[in-house]
Amino acid sequence: MPLNFTRRQFARAGAAVSLASLLPRSVFSNTTATKKAMIHADSEIGTVRPEFHSHFAEHLGSCTYGGIWVGKKSPVENIDGFRKATVDYLKELGVPVLRWPGGCFADDYHWREGIGPAEKRSKRVNVNWGKYIEDNSFGTHEFLGFCKLIGSQPYLAANVGTGSPQEVRDWIEYCNYPKGSALSDERVANGSPEPFRVRYWGIGNELWGCGGNFLPQAAAAEFRRYATFARLVGDQGPGNSVYLVGCGPSGDDSNWTRGFMDAIGNGPRPNGFSMHYYEGGANDPVEFTPENMYTQLNLFPRVEQSLIHQRALLDGYDPNRQMGLILDEWGVWDQLRDNSRGRLWQQSSMRSAVAAGLGLNIFNRQADKLFMCNIAQLINVLQSVLLTDGPEGKNCVRTTTYYAFMLFKPHRSKQALRVEYDGALPAPGFGRGGGGRGGQQAQPPELSVSASRQGSEMVISFVNPRHDVDMEVDCAIRGATARSATAEILHDADINAFNGFDNPDRVTIKKHDVAVEADRVKITLPAMSVATVTLQVA
Ligand code: AHR
Repeated sequence: MPLNFTRRQFARAGAAVSLASLLPRSVFSNTTATKKAMIHADSEIGTVRPEFHSHFAEHLGSCTYGGIWVGKKSPVENIDGFRKATVDYLKELGVPVLRWPGGCFADDYHWREGIGPAEKRSKRVNVNWGKYIEDNSFGTHEFLGFCKLIGSQPYLAANVGTGSPQEVRDWIEYCNYPKGSALSDERVANGSPEPFRVRYWGIGNELWGCGGNFLPQAAAAEFRRYATFARLVGDQGPGNSVYLVGCGPSGDDSNWTRGFMDAIGNGPRPNGFSMHYYEGGANDPVEFTPENMYTQLNLFPRVEQSLIHQRALLDGYDPNRQMGLILDEWGVWDQLRDNSRGRLWQQSSMRSAVAAGLGLNIFNRQADKLFMCNIAQLINVLQSVLLTDGPEGKNCVRTTTYYAFMLFKPHRSKQALRVEYDGALPAPGFGRGGGGRGGQQAQPPELSVSASRQGSEMVISFVNPRHDVDMEVDCAIRGATARSATAEILHDADINAFNGFDNPDRVTIKKHDVAVEADRVKITLPAMSVATVTLQVA
């Protein structure tokens, strides 16, 4: 590729190279730093719930239409209308929970318009995401069919902003009541004789913003009213009740949480409380400068502090932690100026994979405070695990973020362990303010570590977020003896490297060297890497 490409031509070319990779190697002379870490195998934090690795899909851009659903008559290979590559890749990854249909879209969505014969469904304007005509061809049965196909638990986000308690209560009856009522029989007539048994229900989305610009007290009053009827119809005996998610803050907004929880009083209370925290970025996805990358990555310690702080606030109302804290939407949100493949279509680079690793490490370290985390969004929107070449594109690639999630899969259901390491934050001044769409500091971020264990298997994840420093990590293990270890790594020296349609395997997981002694492992983390070590311990 000639170096005289314009910036726009360069981004459009979709080649899996960036300007940085075309510069002479001598520009990048990495230094090597020695880092120490310690894993406390006898100090458990809590279970790494598989739900920490959950996802979110909205009627936005080419996420649902084109990404998940191409229709039964599409020339794109499909299974009953679902894009086959999406199904195959997601089954391999495992999607514990999938939230749908929004996002902002949820508070303008009327579920009855998305059931019955597709050709008779109402056409609506998607007022949030481009004012295109939404033909409702992907509705409740399609979404729940997709969840079944990929082995995911559904999480339905119900409409508060333009909806009613009756609409939500009816949706629950339609989905979950076995048979005999008009609504459940309608479901049977629409092709689903068995109840869907949907457990997770969101009561509105971002009620402080696109969900209706509520004040927290008003949002709590809505929750109490909606939950009364949702539970009346949704609680069908032990082990078969609905889990209702109340709308939490943008970022670490204490005023929202206090206002909402004060007004909730004795309830009905939410089972889960959601917060959203995006990590904004100042550059186009594959044109990041190291400085702007650091500004973005430095938001992650703020995310961690926010989770700790929000849980502490909730503990004041809910000391036994019966209410689960949910990070309902998270992920990097870069500058997105090109909508040609769908709105908010965002390439994932090596930087994005490092960001994913930083986030997933946080969830392990804060496992006792979290119930579920949903990265935004599943496919073709923001920090997705899959990308297609537009809604009709036949190509589907696994992004760097997909592989970062793969590296963390071995942690699922294990017990998170306490870790200490050089560079562990927090830095002062965190834990305040609203959403996290802008970073503040450009100083280099540090090593990040988390660990978990189940029986004789221990898993340690490391992230080196520096673009110019290789890290030699000496990781001591306390409370267990290491017998053997294997390691896998995701790495590219180019912060902007990505898996493009003409080079889909540029950044993938590789085997990596790790040295093991009885009480320690030693691993070298090249600049810009995410690594997972799996140990057999006694
Ligand atoms: O994920 C994109 C949007 O971000 C969602 O619709 C909304 O909930 C959030 O503001």
